[in-house]
Amino acid sequence: MSVADTARAYQLQQDPETKAVAAVMTQVPTARIGEGDLLVRVTHSSVNYKDGLAATGTAPIARRYPLIGGIDAAGVVVEAAGSHQEGDHVVVTGFDLSEKHDGGYADYLRVPSDWAIRLPDGLTLEQSMTLGTAGVTAALGIHQLEHNGLRPGDGPVAVTGASGGVGSLAVSMLARRGYEITAFTGKTEQHDELRRYGATRVETRPDTDNVRALGSETWAGSMDSVGGQTLAWLASTTKRGGGIAAYGNAGGVKVATTVMPFILRGVNLLGINSGWFPQDVRRRLWERMATDLKPEHLDQIGHLVGFEDLPTVCREIVTGAVAGRTVVHIADPG
Ligand SMILES: NC(=O)c1ccc[n+]([C@@H]2O[C@H](COP(=O)([O-])OP(=O)(O)OC[C@H]3O[C@@H](n4cnc5c(N)ncnc54)[C@H](OP(=O)(O)O)[C@@H]3O)[C@@H](O)[C@H]2O)c1
Repeated sequence: MSVADTARAYQLQQDPETKAVAAVMTQVPTARIGEGDLLVRVTHSSVNYKDGLAATGTAPIARRYPLIGGIDAAGVVVEAAGSHQEGDHVVVTGFDLSEKHDGGYADYLRVPSDWAIRLPDGLTLEQSMTLGTAGVTAALGIHQLEHNGLRPGDGPVAVTGASGGVGSLAVSMLARRGYEITAFTGKTEQHDELRRYGATRVETRPDTDNVRALGSETWAGSMDSVGGQTLAWLASTTKRGGGIAAYGNAGGVKVATTVMPFILRGVNLLGINSGWFPQDVRRRLWERMATDLKPEHLDQIGHLVGFEDLPTVCREIVTGAVAGRTVVHIADPG
């Protein structure tokens, strides 16, 4: 398969004087992209909250500059390596993409071959990016909650930031597994959509002004995109032995809670980092996302934008205005 000498890239750059960071549409030599033995022609990427933070310079995501943005990529192998053959469809999410390693917002991605997962049967390249890091995060959260003992029938599972990328996928994956779901959202216009994805109930964001040390026991488990006092409220209202999959900070990083839910009710705080975790679990989660965790409405949750739309979408996602998942079309698989 032929490889072009230059590639389009949406690159994070830092002004050497002001240190301000901005993302710029540019062309780079393909030979200068990334490090590793596997070269992939990228067909799709996605836009996550973290991508928005990086591209707008809102938070220091990249550790070096210039660096190609995008924490997710899917595409076709053009230089075989490891267990991956030329022409294989693969997906790469997390690791150091867009932090220390060139990411998915370019025509090509070069990575160590063991970062790539061969796309399981039952998922297209586009669908794999509707899932992307958000899907891996939701699936890992459910995996950890189930490892903590959660089963359908145990009672309501709370999902916060439910209209967001991880939240909407969490709702639809939990629904596929038969859970009773309470979805919390700040967007009234998303209530019907969340019900369609499988939420049993949809409520407005909880009032977290005066969180008690122990509130009424409500949740068998929860998936939290928001963090801050929402996480404290979830801890205080989780049932005995229940788990909280904590992966988000869309509402803040400071959590003022007490030890009471943990020592009196045995509530389990389950930290989720979708960037780095064992590769055998990652492979298993991709298989599950193609089968028992595959959202019934996956194609409605994702909406496709062009490569040239990246600056606009990256700006919008940091304001909390984007619902569902944004998939970036970079090229056809050919
Ligand atoms: N730990 C990990 O590995 C990992 C991986 C992926 C993402 N994350 C984190 O998980 C969170 C969600 O990611 P995402 O990609 O789904 O982002 P997203 O699409 O922007 O969704 C975040 C949602 O949180 C809610 N929200 C936003 N600002 C809020 C505020 N100030 N207070 C309360 N709720 C607020 C909004 O939902 P509603 O309007 O519906 O309430 C928003 O849609 C982010 O914090 C992200 O950094 C972590």
